[in-house]
Amino acid sequence: MKPKILVTREVFDETLTFLGQHCEVESNQQDAAFDPETLARKLVDKDGVVCCLTDRMDAKLLERCLRLKVVANIAVGYNNIDLAACTARGVMATNTPEVLTDTTADLAFALMLATARRLTEAEAYIRAGQWHGWHLKQMLGVDVHHATLGIIGMGRIGRVIARRAQGFEMRVIYHDPVRLAADIEQRLKATYASKDELLAQADFVILQMPYMPQTHHLIGAAELKKMKPSAILINSTRGGIVDDAALVRALQDGTIRAAGLDTFEGEPKFNPEFLELKNVVLAPHVGSSTEATRRAMAMTAAKNLVAALTGGTPPNLLNPEARKN
Ligand code: GLV
Repeated sequence: MKPKILVTREVFDETLTFLGQHCEVESNQQDAAFDPETLARKLVDKDGVVCCLTDRMDAKLLERCLRLKVVANIAVGYNNIDLAACTARGVMATNTPEVLTDTTADLAFALMLATARRLTEAEAYIRAGQWHGWHLKQMLGVDVHHATLGIIGMGRIGRVIARRAQGFEMRVIYHDPVRLAADIEQRLKATYASKDELLAQADFVILQMPYMPQTHHLIGAAELKKMKPSAILINSTRGGIVDDAALVRALQDGTIRAAGLDTFEGEPKFNPEFLELKNVVLAPHVGSSTEATRRAMAMTAAKNLVAALTGGTPPNLLNPEARKN
């Protein structure tokens, strides 16, 4: 008998075809997100789940889903999954690293360029019929090339952003709890800095770490004050890492110049005051959203799940200890 699985949100046809070869699949191609009660009910008789960052996989849910052996997240970040609870119940949890690294780095760069050159403001101006001719001081922005880029969080995506920055001849400084080996620093042309040094020196600050209790409000009012008034903040990693209320105030009163945001505290809700500001570029959590990458992410999650349910080791297993429980 094939194992029974749930796919919580719409995926690509090839993902479902692959899953169907190995599993009895209940899918949600209508894509309406399940509330926690519906999700728990649907998972009671399932051996595995392919889920997304919009699904909370917490202890309360796992308690009710006694057959569950694997939770395969279609995302690299997994703060929607209670990993300790999964491990305690012997449930394997997996994510989708690697396949989205370049695409997500591209979006961070896109936000940096768009905020520096005021692209969304410029487009709104044209669309509103306000453009009546060229003039010298029109939409003055700031240069990305040769500026100082500060990357906080130098994991896979942070490192690729540093490589992209070489093309723009930027000076790259970084901060991370773990300093990189000297040869990697050299290759990336990235210099280690304390968080305060980075905030004080960077023209652009890009955040690229996972959300966890230790990174909650890593950037708040105090940190924003340490940045240059000309600096631009980019958050394309996770909401909650920035104190969004403090960021709104900093953008309103000129503590910093601008911000580019792909993630928000409490998303899909977000602080409505962002909408009143011209010096912010907003995107709806689309960091990994290219056709090729989203297909690759869904297939990676599917392969992780099938490996777990057919006695193999999922390539992206987050909690190897779960197999012993
Ligand atoms: C997207 O935000 C991801 O974590 O993959």
